[in-house]
Parts: sequence; structure tokens; C-alpha cells
Amino acid sequence: MTSSSATPYAPQFEVILLCLAGGFLPNHPPRNLTIATTGASGAIFLRHLLLAVERDARVETVNFIASDSALRVMAEELGLKGRSNLVGRILGHSGSRAALKIKEQSNTDIGANVASGSYPADAMIVMPCSVGTLARIANGVAAQLIERAADVSLKEKRPLVLCVRETPLNKIHIRNMYRAADAGATVFPLIPAFYYHPASLDEMAREFAYRVLAHVGLPQADAFRWKG
Ligand SMILES: Cc1cc2nc3c(=O)[nH]c(=O)nc-3n(C[C@H](O)[C@H](O)[C@H](O)COP(=O)(O)O)c2cc1C
Repeated sequence: MTSSSATPYAPQFEVILLCLAGGFLPNHPPRNLTIATTGASGAIFLRHLLLAVERDARVETVNFIASDSALRVMAEELGLKGRSNLVGRILGHSGSRAALKIKEQSNTDIGANVASGSYPADAMIVMPCSVGTLARIANGVAAQLIERAADVSLKEKRPLVLCVRETPLNKIHIRNMYRAADAGATVFPLIPAFYYHPASLDEMAREFAYRVLAHVGLPQADAFRWKG
């Protein structure tokens, strides 16, 4: 084959990729993340996820959405009350640094940036994901911003990671996990590992957050790596 007959294949390949991605190719590693949190137990995992993305220079923008129930759980588990300076208080500092790239969006604002497929979000993580939010996402009920942003992720074929937490699971939960996975989401249950002997809850939560970030293309340099 001559070089002139081989060259046309490169642009065709790009066009096929673009079509598969619905006309938008997410950045890899992701630069623009959507992180949502809902009323399941596990606020400490969210804290470590936000700390990691705040530190990670590859991540330029984070749109953060908390459901009302997430606030209720955060009051129990992190001792945080109310919404004022929520991100700063989750991170444990004034929030001025975080405010530069982690922007809180209201769950009631279905006109926020991430509600539209035209907004260039690269990936979305729901940490933790309640079975109520799972049910709404799995069944296309997009009344509030979290479910709408997840719905957009699925329709635009962008990564969507659902860190579902409930135990035990009933058949409705299991069916909804299947439906979400079938529609393109990654069901990433909030189940930490123990083979690296975490010395504290913080270490356990940090390693789990790192596993989720690695899954969306943001491996962390200080993550535990199994050597066999
Ligand atoms: C302290 C506390 C812990 C909870 N833990 C869970 C849980 O682990 N998983 C879950 O699905 N729901 C849990 N719930 C119940 C949810 O918060 C509730 O179903 C809520 O309606 C979910 O709303 P959201 O999906 O809009 O955040 C918990 C509630 C409270 C107050």
C-alpha cells in the first residue's frame, strides 16, 4: 500500500470517534468534573474526593451539587450544619482556595451549567449515591439538578460513576443498579478495600476516593498500589 492510499484513514477514524461520543469528545484526563453528593451514609468519602480534586492540578473546574438529604447526613457524620461555605467546611479550611475551582450549584437550579449537554463536563461522580437518587437516575426522572446532570452524562455518553451505598439491598435497588449500568453508568459501590491495612477511617476513605478518581482517568501519585 502506498502512503497516499493510507493517509485518508486518519480523519475518518476521528469522525467515527466523534460520532460515537455524540459530537463531543471529553478530555482525558478530565479537566471539568461534576461531583454530586446525596443523602447516603459516607460523607467522609466525599471529603477525601473533594480534597483530592482540589489538589489535583489536572482538574480545572468542579461543579459541586449537594441534595438536601446530603446536608442532613453531613450534619450527622461531619458535624456540619447548613449550606453556607459548604465546600470550605467540608474541606476543613476557609474555602477561598477551593472556591477558585469548586463551584457549588443549587440542586433546585435545573438551569445550571451542567443541566445542558452543550456544557463541556468531562465526567460525573455521585459520592455517596443514595438508592433514592440511584432510582431516579436509573429511571430517567430528572426533576432536580443532580439527576438531570446524570441524565445528561448518560445521553452524551460521558463517564458517570455512582458510588451507591445501602445495605442490605432489595430487588428494587439491584434492578436499578442493573438499569443504570445498562444505560452506561459505572456502579461503583461504596465498599472500601482492607488489603492495604488502612490505619484510620481517613486513610480508608482517601484510598477509596483515589480508586474512583483512577477510574475516571485521574490516578493519584500517592495511591496504594498492589504489588502482588
Ligand atoms: C443519617 C442518615 C443516613 C442515611 N443513610 C443512607 C444510606 O446509606 N443509603 C441510602 O440510600 N439512604 C440513606 N439515608 C436515607 C436518605 O437520606 C433518604 O432516602 C433521602 O430521601 C435521599 O435523598 P437524596 O437521594 O435526594 O439525597 C440516610 C439518611 C440519614 C438521615
